[in-house]
Amino acid sequence: MKILLGVTGGIAAYKAIDLTSKLVQNGHEVRVIMTESAEQFVTPLPFQALSRNPVYTDIFHEQNPAEIQHISLGDWADIMIIAPLTASTLGKIAHGISDNMLCATVLAFKKQIYLAPAMNSNMYENIAVQTNIDTLKKRGFKFIEPGEGFLACGYVAKGRMSEPLDIMQYITEDNIEKDLTGMNVLITAGPTIETIDPVRYLTNRSSGKMGYSLAQAASLRGANVTLVSTDVGLQVPSGVRHIKIESAQDMFNAVKDNMEQHIIIKAAAVADYTPSETYEQKLKKQDGDLTLTLKRTEDILKYIGEHKTSQFVVGFAAETEHVEKYARGKLIKKNADVIVANNVGDKSIGFKSNDNAVTMYFKNGTQIDIPKQSKLNIAHEILSHVKEKGFK
Ligand code: CTP
Repeated sequence: MKILLGVTGGIAAYKAIDLTSKLVQNGHEVRVIMTESAEQFVTPLPFQALSRNPVYTDIFHEQNPAEIQHISLGDWADIMIIAPLTASTLGKIAHGISDNMLCATVLAFKKQIYLAPAMNSNMYENIAVQTNIDTLKKRGFKFIEPGEGFLACGYVAKGRMSEPLDIMQYITEDNIEKDLTGMNVLITAGPTIETIDPVRYLTNRSSGKMGYSLAQAASLRGANVTLVSTDVGLQVPSGVRHIKIESAQDMFNAVKDNMEQHIIIKAAAVADYTPSETYEQKLKKQDGDLTLTLKRTEDILKYIGEHKTSQFVVGFAAETEHVEKYARGKLIKKNADVIVANNVGDKSIGFKSNDNAVTMYFKNGTQIDIPKQSKLNIAHEILSHVKEKGFK
């Protein structure tokens, strides 16, 4: 996106340098406007160096005589962010005052503006400030609320500018294309838990992060998402329907009852075996060794593959060797439309890691490599390829 970043005169202006860096690193093009007060805290130079664009500070200093900058910058940008936003600039915007480069650009700007206030908590709570916030919310400005924490004045209260990473995540999520609207997507995630007795169970090393990232990405893109998983300690993404299960049998039942979907993604690491017998009371230790007998669980993906009608079925393959051979074997054996294979033997992208690297093997022979990146980015890529191949 083309992003216009306004920086006003608060101590958090230094964080706007980090925000510029993060936005550029994530592929955005950034141009910065600073108020005169902002220059009391930081200079234009770091913004210029990081954005590799001139920084705008003076409405009367036209860097290109062929343009009126406070108009042409607004035409250029897709969105505008003001971070940090002081009480003074907030008041000016609320009342249509345009006595500097930033405020004049805001008045001429016809697209979405995001405001990240930062000020002392007493100022923030002041009725004048809160009235200005309400006014601008009603006009469609979006506020990225300040957090609680240590303020420059020594208070520990609400008023700290939201962290650059959070601001970036907010605008990314808000501007995401809702290309899965109307789609019903079922995702299974994480390990299963197979009970031995009230104290012990069998499980595996899956963290659930890949499946939860898929649920988050699909939901952000407008899909109706149902997530079937054990409690893996991750927050269920907002808007996602969560069916909490424990065993492979529970997961099988939940999936079977919810087969009416456009897309089914089996990211879960399902136990292949469960104890043949579950003990009601804690097993007491005896002399000698103990032999535990295990029986096979239902292969849920295979069941889906055999009973699917129009669903696009995505299976996963967690492998430590011969990744392609095993993944292609599972594609056929389980009648999936695609298998997403990952090498869980590689510690840098394995189960507990926040990153992953996968290869998608489609039924028609197509192979797509998705290089190492965050599991959320991988999730978006997987969904884009599924949409492209399955729902033209
Ligand atoms: N799967 C499933 N039900 C099972 C076992 C696996 O639905 N009882 C699904 C997984 O969710 C995944 C795919 O099948 O989408 C492959 O799982 P994986 O554990 O990689 O392979 P397995 O089928 O268990 O085969 P193997 O243990 O031989 O690798």
